[in-house]
Amino acid sequence: MSYPYQIKSFEEYKSVYNKSVMDPEGFWGDIAGHFYWRKRWDKVLNWNFKDPKVEWFIGGRLNITENCLDRHLGSLGNKPAIIWEPNDPEEHHRILTYRELHTKVVQFANVLKNNGVQKGDRVCLYMGMVPELAIAVLACARIGAIHSVIFGGFSAQSIADRLMDAQAEYVITCDGAYRGNKEIPLKSVIDDALVQCRFVKRVIVLTRTRTPVSMIKGRDVWWEDEIRKVETMGNPDCPAEEMDSEDPLFILYTSGSTGKPKGVVHTCAGYMVYTNYTFVNTFQYQPGDIHFCTADIGWITGHSYIVYGPLSAGATTLLFEGIPTWPDAGRFWEVVDKYKVNVLYTAPTAIRSLMGFGLGPLQGKQLSSLKVLGTVGEPINEEAWHWYNENIGKGRCPIVDTWWQTETGGVLISNMAGVTPAKPSYATLPMPGVQPVLVDENGKEITGNNVSGNLCIRFPWPSIIRTTYGDHERCRTNYFSAYENMYFTGDGCYRDEEGYYRITGRVDDVLNVSGHRIGTAEVENAINMHAGVVESAVVGYPHDIKGQGIYCFVIFQGSHGDENLNRQDITQTVSRIIGPIAKPDKIQFVPGLPKTRSGKIMRRILRKIAEGEMENLGDTSTLLDPAVVDEIKKGKL
Ligand code: PRX
Repeated sequence: MSYPYQIKSFEEYKSVYNKSVMDPEGFWGDIAGHFYWRKRWDKVLNWNFKDPKVEWFIGGRLNITENCLDRHLGSLGNKPAIIWEPNDPEEHHRILTYRELHTKVVQFANVLKNNGVQKGDRVCLYMGMVPELAIAVLACARIGAIHSVIFGGFSAQSIADRLMDAQAEYVITCDGAYRGNKEIPLKSVIDDALVQCRFVKRVIVLTRTRTPVSMIKGRDVWWEDEIRKVETMGNPDCPAEEMDSEDPLFILYTSGSTGKPKGVVHTCAGYMVYTNYTFVNTFQYQPGDIHFCTADIGWITGHSYIVYGPLSAGATTLLFEGIPTWPDAGRFWEVVDKYKVNVLYTAPTAIRSLMGFGLGPLQGKQLSSLKVLGTVGEPINEEAWHWYNENIGKGRCPIVDTWWQTETGGVLISNMAGVTPAKPSYATLPMPGVQPVLVDENGKEITGNNVSGNLCIRFPWPSIIRTTYGDHERCRTNYFSAYENMYFTGDGCYRDEEGYYRITGRVDDVLNVSGHRIGTAEVENAINMHAGVVESAVVGYPHDIKGQGIYCFVIFQGSHGDENLNRQDITQTVSRIIGPIAKPDKIQFVPGLPKTRSGKIMRRILRKIAEGEMENLGDTSTLLDPAVVDEIKKGKL
């Protein structure tokens, strides 16, 4: 596979960028021409940010799996598509060539059909990081079913909420998942979720851990049995469903500042073109390279840069089941050496946590295959950047700091490895086709350099969010109403003297904990479910490893006397309602919350207290009861 659209120099980047802004349709039309279409598009783009309505490659017909699999069979059939490293280094790894992956996807697509899944149906995937997760994702895409992957760290209640929102009648899961020394009983969590979701018709269960499971008659079937059935059926083929460019490809739930998580919808063609383009350019992928993205497929990073981006580019993608610190903190480096990984893409939180183990775990590790390093998910502090650069990249691997979001589908602002300049803690420059704007609170554009503001994008790129599933109005109010004719990212941003962008973090009530997005309102709702809780307010505070920690101020009644026990109960409640990933780091019991006369909680004050900036609380005179602030300050954890 060659990539004629791979940018090779800073000069070329500048001219390509200019073209992409002057003639976006011509630009993206050229890129899209490198894919396999059943029918070419009639028109490249239709858009307005008012409704919003964005359509790319209108009238085009395609199937993304023909681009990720079938079109590679001739030239790359025997080349590895997926390398799978299991949780336990003693267990045998697996390698799936493009031909093998194709065969397995086709087989499982037939399993889905046999079980009644049709084009447009929503299929929920709740699995560990096994190759079958990628296979299931692609099998859904093969038959035009809309997949919705849920990360294994979410609770039964979170799953039920998502299943109901998506009206998903099919679930694919595993008996259990291995993560470090833990075994997570995935099927059992699904069973708890399904108590509320009687509309689910079928659960397909893959054997992984041999964790005991209860298989419900008429509803639950084993993955392996179903594969055997299609094997005996004879016809091993499953022609790809012909999809419209704008047919939904998947739904992925993510947290916002209000209410329940929303289902971000991405569509077939634009998502395919953009993830491929950014994969090839950001990481400067070369044929034969081993690409290791350490994210979970349950997040957008895994969708775009483990599955669709790499496979559409005919790349070899490494899928790792485990965690960076098990059996020891040298695990990533061991995997890099074992497979001669060329591109390593991970999160700042992982880097910071590994930094904490010192250089011991790096002893005896060569890391000489590495060519490119990447980070994603949260701002990277300079210390972590330099540690990564010196100890992992040995000063010879460019680091790409990729800024993007679930809603953007692919990387929007990032340097390109070795092609455009890197700058520690800066995402640097926009991808071709991406037009960032900084605006002030009043929606006025802030021009020039050396300025800060709220980050918006003024023109659509192919993988922009199309809607929030089942509630288009929510999509409009969340992203397109704050500033007229612009997509609002929710992030604050600084543009330096040279025009380079540095993302400073969320400006709304969304936390970024270990690179995971968590809404403060969601955590508050979960805490408030606890019988003893009267009211709560949740804010973020700087955390050395996680980036942000979750700080909860709680008014509690009905205490059983022991504060620590009460804390554990509240933590357990959050874990039960949202999942272990949203567990509070600090819970402070308070007599009251700082409220304005109209009853609004002044989070600004709580944020300052949580950050330890007690002296600097600003104007508290509008508070209903200013004395409560002193009480809260006294009890600060
Ligand atoms: O605040 C930004 C932060 O992560 C948010 C998006 O989270 P999510 O949708 O879960 O997607 C994460 C993976 C793409 C953004 O609004 N963020 C993401 N990448 C960076 C970042 N902050 C700073 N630098 C980054 N490179």
